Amino acid sequence: MATEMKRIPCMAANWKMNKTSAEAADFVRQILPQLKELAGVERVICPPAAALPALSALLAGSGVGLGAQNMHWEAKGAFTGELSAAMVKEFCAYVIIGHSERRGLFGETDEMVAKKVKAALAAGLIPIVCVGETLSENEAGQTDAVVRRQMNAAFDGLTVEQAAKAIVAYEPVWAIGTGRAAHGPDANRVVAGSIRSVLAAKFNPGVSAAVRVLYGGSVTPENIAEFLSEPEIDGGLVGGASLKPDYVEIVRAALKRVH
Ligand code: PGA
Repeated sequence: MATEMKRIPCMAANWKMNKTSAEAADFVRQILPQLKELAGVERVICPPAAALPALSALLAGSGVGLGAQNMHWEAKGAFTGELSAAMVKEFCAYVIIGHSERRGLFGETDEMVAKKVKAALAAGLIPIVCVGETLSENEAGQTDAVVRRQMNAAFDGLTVEQAAKAIVAYEPVWAIGTGRAAHGPDANRVVAGSIRSVLAAKFNPGVSAAVRVLYGGSVTPENIAEFLSEPEIDGGLVGGASLKPDYVEIVRAALKRVH
């Protein structure tokens, strides 16, 4: 797979349902001085929605990006509990779409993910599109089929320009929050064979080479180098470790990525 194009590494922090707005602000004040200096890496913090206003004020002008963890595809209306793309865009440049917890715990289908990706891009947000197989799918040898299906659905109907702006996170569900990360070469194989190849077939090789693909699932300061050394992996989507100053160390590791 051609990777002549230099892709800027990206380390996104997915805080999930952790930290109140006050706790989020305290933590960001603590790590921001160090995080600011690591400008060679695209840094994105995705706190709970309630912390977006406070963090948007704190991160303004810092070079550190802010993302939401979810959004609805409709512009407005009777959708209790949901946020629209415009509401996210007031505070954020990024939004995580189709995280496996949204898919597995809240019934998000491939079709819903596709609508969200389209609405996010139409609003000028950068979607961080999550794909990945469950343990049983992995054990049944269905990893590539599942990831290809999720990729084909999520990127359906996008223009080449839109697709090139998206970020993909490959997160094997069995590796999330389990302390059992994937092996770098295995993740790289899925990224090359089922993520970049779908982008090349659906759009063109330029899109496939331009899109950043992150690995997610039990990333730590200790194992991040293994993923960054893989040619098709451009960073991480970090859950548990991003709630601690470990996140700074994980971002720092990405500075050393050369490809
Ligand atoms: P984890 O979560 O790093 O805690 O495994 C990753 C994720 O779900 O994005």
